[in-house]
Amino acid sequence: MRKRSVSPNPKPSKEQLTLFANVKKVGTKTTCFFNNKGGVGKTTLVANLAAELALSFQAKVLVVDADPQCNLTQYVLPEDLTNEIYSSDNPDSIYSVIRPLSLGKGYESDLPIRKSQDFGFDIIIGDPRLALQEDLLAGDWRDAKGGGMRGIRTTFVFAELVRRAKELKYDFVFFDMGPSLGAINRAVLLAMDFFVVPMSIDVFSLWAIRNIGTTVTIWQKELETGCSLAEDPGEISELSPKGKLAFLGYVTQQHKERAGYDEEISEDTGEQVKIRRRVQAYESIGATFPEKVSNSLGSMFVNNDMNAHLGDIRHLGSLAPMSQTQHVPMISVRGTGSYTRLRKQARELYRGIALRYLENLGD
Ligand SMILES: Nc1ncnc2c1ncn2[C@@H]1O[C@H](COP(=O)(O)OP(=O)(O)OP(=O)(O)O)[C@@H](O)[C@H]1O
Ligand SMILES: [Mg+2]
Repeated sequence: MRKRSVSPNPKPSKEQLTLFANVKKVGTKTTCFFNNKGGVGKTTLVANLAAELALSFQAKVLVVDADPQCNLTQYVLPEDLTNEIYSSDNPDSIYSVIRPLSLGKGYESDLPIRKSQDFGFDIIIGDPRLALQEDLLAGDWRDAKGGGMRGIRTTFVFAELVRRAKELKYDFVFFDMGPSLGAINRAVLLAMDFFVVPMSIDVFSLWAIRNIGTTVTIWQKELETGCSLAEDPGEISELSPKGKLAFLGYVTQQHKERAGYDEEISEDTGEQVKIRRRVQAYESIGATFPEKVSNSLGSMFVNNDMNAHLGDIRHLGSLAPMSQTQHVPMISVRGTGSYTRLRKQARELYRGIALRYLENLGD
């Protein structure tokens, strides 16, 4: 028999629930979690933040795995189910949403939505075949920029997915994305209301956010030009993002740093001692982040006064791999002893990120 997951209590306070209720009133909010740098914790953040909103706030959340690596799908679904799904010839997945377009058949009528067991949200699973559609989307992008309807339709494939999710009254639609500035990610970014950038505390992440800001702005302008030249402006007006994509904040993570200490031989005693230098080095790079993020993405801030730093994800020990093997969010990992403490830390962490995310949405 399956052991029950640990309950993700304590419940949010009355004020926190009111904050959520106010955001809920606005309707479906679409957010992608993006950084073209790999391994910065995007998938882990998407799954655990979506779970926190779904399990603690009772939000209706749809998560779309738009990364051909399918890590989110593997994390969220039980292993036997993932094996069964991917052993079938043509599983219902994100690929089923795009495939009809490449055959010239227009948009797919139903979204291939599944329920996750323990994360509390719905999911459109990933598909390695999505990588095959990069070429289609790249070719159609050239067409779209010149106003070609076929190209515009393909570029808006995720905008159409979002339109249907809105009809299904989701509070949030989250997209997990692979680490690239390729054609799939361009189509996702152009369909979103908001984006969040998970980043590690290093200069590479700072370069990455500079890229994101400039690249997205160029894409938006090119798409606007394409739409203004379109043969059938009526068809696109509903889907057109009209350059609305806004930056909602960033999450730093230093989970790769285990203890955060360097070791050195003491000059006085000749013994090995632990020093905090590594932590200090992180802190000094981290201290420059607010200004650097604001310089790179300030023009896309959802609100000039917002606190863009949604949270700092510290190392949660074996809770992360444990949650992967159990296919449950970190707040629901089964286990006693140190897991009780780690679960509590995870709950505080993801609750804090959820609240700042809701605050920035509410502004
Ligand atoms: N808070 C955490 N504590 C410990 N380990 C973590 C934490 N968050 C993420 N990890 C680990 O870091 C690794 C990378 O995380 P993840 O897969 O979420 O990154 P990603 O940005 O989605 O990667 P990719 O660019 O390949 O999609 C994973 O093995 C994950 O288990
Ligand atoms: Mg990932």
